[in-house]
Amino acid sequence: MRKTFIAGNWKMNMLPSEAAAFIGDLAAKTGDFKYGKVMVAPPFTSLPAAAAVIKGTGILLGAQNMSDEESGAHTGEVSPLMLKDLGVDAVILGHSERRLIYGENDAFINRKVKLALKHGFEVILCVGETLEERESGKVETVVEEQLAGGLSGIAEESLASITIAYEPVWAIGTGKTATPEDADSVHAFIRKIIEKLFSSSAAAEIVIQYGGSVKPENSAELMAKENIDGALVGGASLKVDSFYGIINFAKA
Ligand code: 13P
Repeated sequence: MRKTFIAGNWKMNMLPSEAAAFIGDLAAKTGDFKYGKVMVAPPFTSLPAAAAVIKGTGILLGAQNMSDEESGAHTGEVSPLMLKDLGVDAVILGHSERRLIYGENDAFINRKVKLALKHGFEVILCVGETLEERESGKVETVVEEQLAGGLSGIAEESLASITIAYEPVWAIGTGKTATPEDADSVHAFIRKIIEKLFSSSAAAEIVIQYGGSVKPENSAELMAKENIDGALVGGASLKVDSFYGIINFAKA
């Protein structure tokens, strides 16, 4: 039985004081988390403030990126050891903004996935096509390439620590959500690829989030789909009420 997993990717938003206040307010609303698994991913500079208040709330602490190296001459990078020391539980890797703006490719992302697993982090591995790729019929080719590349050399046992986030680039921050049917069919395809790369039980067990303009108004519909197990939320995760509305989708 796959557990619902709702994660907020705050991107380059939220000062330390805002992050701490948000977590306090969210924890007050969600109580004992009967809704499933919940995570927030503040920017690096807000992680210490978030870590100080998140302990004991049941909310997981995520980072939005991580270096592919542990230490040394890597100006501007943040090591897994540093994130571990702060109490970070999970890292988001391969986000389309990292791929498209900062040129991260599948081999580089794969190094990060392996290093994150080595240090005991949960990983959210993001995949998804651009509008151009969708319009030229390449959704499956792109998603398969990103999965095979990102998960290359990963042992099947490690999949228990990996969540896949399907985020069609054209739906991110645009207000355009993939229809629940479209998203579900790509999620089903992702399971097919996980079966091909690993096994049918791995395909049945892997948690797959949808991301791209998820909000309280559309979350119940998306989550009702067989292959959609959660959401990776950007804009709507920046306000406690809207993020809580998504976490609480079953009652929305
Ligand atoms: P939006 O929810 O703002 O579309 O962002 C989605 C996203 O990129 C989450 O990682």
